Amino acid sequence: MNDRSVSTPPPVDVVRAFPDTSWADEGATRGVEAVVENGEVLSFPLLPFVLSPAEQKFLDPRWADGKAKNISLRWPSGEMRGAAGDAADLIALRAMIVRYTECSEALALRLFPHYRGHLKRGNTSFRPVDVASRATSWRQDDTRLHVDAFPSNPMHGTRLLRVFCNVNPNGRPREWRVGEPFEAHARRYLPAIPRPLPGSAWLLAKTGITKRRRTEYDHLMLQLHDRAKADAEFQRNSPQARVDFAPGTTWVVFSDQVLHAAMGGQHMMEQTFYLDVTQQQRPEASPRGVLERLLGRQLR
Ligand code: SIN
Ligand code: FE
Repeated sequence: MNDRSVSTPPPVDVVRAFPDTSWADEGATRGVEAVVENGEVLSFPLLPFVLSPAEQKFLDPRWADGKAKNISLRWPSGEMRGAAGDAADLIALRAMIVRYTECSEALALRLFPHYRGHLKRGNTSFRPVDVASRATSWRQDDTRLHVDAFPSNPMHGTRLLRVFCNVNPNGRPREWRVGEPFEAHARRYLPAIPRPLPGSAWLLAKTGITKRRRTEYDHLMLQLHDRAKADAEFQRNSPQARVDFAPGTTWVVFSDQVLHAAMGGQHMMEQTFYLDVTQQQRPEASPRGVLERLLGRQLR
């Protein structure tokens, strides 16, 4: 063995491929809650989100207004943010993104019938900006492995289920890294994470820094997010795998559980769904369940 093989990070194998060619009810796969709850990435290499010839022109960063890195729809209102263009084009662009909302919702409800009636639509986003040109601080740098957790948006244990699709027209993959299982990740940093300062949750909410109270669960998730991104040694040497999602591939993941990083690519659709942790098939497999087991107590 030479030095290079010694420093190669241990491999991770969490991507499962499925043969579906349709978003709608007749698609092949259903009832795979256990797979996604286990922290695996469900990949559908034959499930493209097809743009009409007239929609192809939207595959250009000029439609993003420059302030946000994404063009997004907010639900339930369906209001579009982050786009720039004339009125007729913006109507067509919005219609394209709404179609993605509907496709990904149909897919999620077929894959996960147990969540029916409990999946709540979050934002839908279209990302025409090259991953490489997103200017960011280390905390916002999504080329570093992380679990999703947001400083201003405490989740209180609610799960983040995301449906991504690469719509790149030039054959360019969405290049990801995926990392170690959530439990191993929590064990890595949990002992060093201090409890939140008394009164800090109240203060953060009172001053509007958080939209609602940051619970101890949110504190822990944000600490995991930040500590992983700040840890160069972890980024380099922790167990991980490179995954290229080719154009025409759709993938589904609990992004608050699966360590991920976006290394490259351009033009992607993304739909977020929220799921109350108690509506999972196995709530104990969730990040909150794992953290509670490791801590030996309940988290609120
Ligand atoms: C992320 O969720 O961290 C980024 C995903 C992507 O843009 O591919
Ligand atoms: Fe992320």
